[in-house]
Amino acid sequence: MLATLDQQARQFRDDVLAGLSAPIPAVPARWLYDQRGSELFDRITRLPAYYPTRTEMGIFDEIMPEVAARVPKGAVVVEFGAGSQTKTPILLEAVSPAAYIPVDISGDYLEQSAVELQRLFPRIEVVPVVADFARPFTLPGGFAHLPRLGFFPGSTIGNFVPWSAADLLRHFRALLGAGSQLLIGMDRVKPVERLIAAYDDPEGVTAQFTLNLLTRINRELDGDIPVDAFRHEARWNDMLSRIEIHLVAKRDVAFIVADHSFAFAKGASIHVENSHKYDPRGARVLLLAGGWTPLVEWSDAAGDFAEILAIAEPERFAP
Ligand code: AVI
Repeated sequence: MLATLDQQARQFRDDVLAGLSAPIPAVPARWLYDQRGSELFDRITRLPAYYPTRTEMGIFDEIMPEVAARVPKGAVVVEFGAGSQTKTPILLEAVSPAAYIPVDISGDYLEQSAVELQRLFPRIEVVPVVADFARPFTLPGGFAHLPRLGFFPGSTIGNFVPWSAADLLRHFRALLGAGSQLLIGMDRVKPVERLIAAYDDPEGVTAQFTLNLLTRINRELDGDIPVDAFRHEARWNDMLSRIEIHLVAKRDVAFIVADHSFAFAKGASIHVENSHKYDPRGARVLLLAGGWTPLVEWSDAAGDFAEILAIAEPERFAP
């Protein structure tokens, strides 16, 4: 556990120093989620303007009998992420798996959520795994003979640029094995005003979430970034079909992080997150590129969000 923490701290430092010095400054979005960042994200999911969470919940309420009919009984559910207290119970209730394996890098949060889910579902074996699900790791032994269902809700796949999203899906396939299924949530393309409102809410919670990255850098990497010299900005990049989140310098600013000096001119930005939006065909092509064949797709009545069940078909000779 200690080794993992040290490794994480080193990785954070390396990512921030390399990212702030890059020609297009950027810091990987996963560093937005410290304790405070996770709390703020939790608030985001309940904001009126942030439609994805409640829309996906509404879809779950409708589709679970159908999901349960397609997933073999006594399967192992592997969730990529710690498991939300709202979405995961709906799935576990519906498919009654033999085991549930949540995988998350944040050991504390994972442990807490696993204990709660074990209390709710005493008959399911809950086995949390502390790991970065985007990097190679192994599943705990003893479940190899059981069918597997991967669970990746929330449109988290949208936070990966398409080439790394395809890599991630292939890694899920290699981990779960041929014949496994994947239930994945993907946010759809929609009018720009709604997208911008979802990522730049009038309450300013998303702005706090983004700016918290600078506070984290100051605290953990001995920085002196004047946080009030930056503002949150959500931009729609139509060519790349994604919302981009930037921290834009409000004035010329110079600061130190981990003994390294940086200067940003007024208007320069640090790119801190992407949230890709997929139309139905784009979503299916991405899954296919990652080794998953879509089986069924469900969406809400307005077509705002999609939930797709896909299968890792055994490799076959392709024409
Ligand atoms: C976690 N992820 C799916 C969120 C999204 O919608 O891309 C992260 C987020 N960032 C700002 N608001 C929400």
